Amino acid sequence: MEKIPGVKYMRDFYPEEMRLRLWIEDHWRQASLRAGFQEWDSPIMEYLELYARKSGDEIVGQLFTIAPRDADAKDDKRMAIRPEMTPSLARMIAARQAALPKPIKWFCISRMCRSERGQRGRLREFWQWNVDVLGSPDPTADAEVISVAVNALSSMGLTSEEVEVRFNSRTLSAAILAAVGVSSEQQPGIYAALDKRGKIPAEALREMFAKVGLESAVVDRIEEAMGCKSLDELEAFASNQKLSGHKEALANLREVERALALLGAGDWCRFDPGIVRGLAYYTGPVFEIFDRKANLRALAGGGRYDNLLSVVGGQPMPGVGFGMGDVVLGELLKDLDKLPSSAMELDDFVIPLDDERKWDVLEIIAALRRAGRRTDYASAAGNLGKLMKRADQLGAARVVLVGGDEWTRGNLKIKDMKNRTEAEIAVKEFLTHPARSS
Ligand code: HAM
Repeated sequence: MEKIPGVKYMRDFYPEEMRLRLWIEDHWRQASLRAGFQEWDSPIMEYLELYARKSGDEIVGQLFTIAPRDADAKDDKRMAIRPEMTPSLARMIAARQAALPKPIKWFCISRMCRSERGQRGRLREFWQWNVDVLGSPDPTADAEVISVAVNALSSMGLTSEEVEVRFNSRTLSAAILAAVGVSSEQQPGIYAALDKRGKIPAEALREMFAKVGLESAVVDRIEEAMGCKSLDELEAFASNQKLSGHKEALANLREVERALALLGAGDWCRFDPGIVRGLAYYTGPVFEIFDRKANLRALAGGGRYDNLLSVVGGQPMPGVGFGMGDVVLGELLKDLDKLPSSAMELDDFVIPLDDERKWDVLEIIAALRRAGRRTDYASAAGNLGKLMKRADQLGAARVVLVGGDEWTRGNLKIKDMKNRTEAEIAVKEFLTHPARSS
């Protein structure tokens, strides 16, 4: 019979891969909890309308849509598998907005799907860590979410020499674009083009600019602004060009930068006017996280979305947050040779030395497991060399041998697999103190 393959660009997690995913999730979760965030989750599907209203065309074009077929289906609207969490977050907060204590500091680690062409770092299914603060318009909230991302990456062994956060502000970009001659109708097209900057060839980018109807003199000025490498350089560019309208956004971004430095994330972050984000709902500071060699797609992206709650029917409420995926992160750790060990770890492996003892083994493993030790066993006596090899494959720290002369003396033999030492211990003593090795 022909084998049926798994769906392309969806994920199988064999145990080693599952261990990596859980390791990543654990670092994400610990970094969130350390900063006082609470965990939440949402259903795997939402009504299509939720995304159509708020995510923007690019994401809507990547939705897996679903027509339900159960008894309630005829009254129900079309649904989509969640491609991101922010719309669900806004919907859930809008539903209990008055009751929730502010600021709302929530994180989630959730599975999502986008119908994207599979490529390095982009699949149809991925896990995304979201960290969001709602109810605070303060620039320290922007800096806090960025610092939580940085802390998680740092706890995984990544450094500021390997990874960088590039930040900008949509308000600042809007002010600069308006000042150089881009009309407000042209701005969404320019953002879409800028979001593709560096990801598509320069010519294709020029074409995107041309489609929006920009004169080449305006494109040149945009390119010049894009070349600014710090907020000081941008300020100098704006004053040379006699631009106005950008001062408030610039001052706000300077405060974000100041808070980042105080939170210890300054070395990881730099201003990059080319970061505008593809999603439609961002209103203020925005950021993306990249590997410094820029070999890979973005590790994470986020920003401020102060109008989102009103779009889903809630009261206006400022929000800021980011999403980080597991795929690019795994690729980066692999490239840098920083993947954690994917080997299984077991505390004890218990082996009967003759078939009579297989029943005694059960009593011993039960005691070990009750004591919280990760324990596996051989269900029958056999070739000891092979069983010891199995213990090694399972990553056992200790092997407990049940039988032989030791058993006749009322004892067990304990082998320490790391130090390669052996000890004998009375069965009774071992059953009351299963962690003791001698
Ligand atoms: P996003 O930039 O669309 O933002 O996605 C954030 C991250 O999710 C990306 O940087 C990437 O690591 C991962 N990701 C996205 N698409 C894929 C894919 N097809 N395969 C693998 N990984 C992927 C958002 O989703 C926003 N909702 C983030 C946010 C939260 N903004 C505010 N709060």
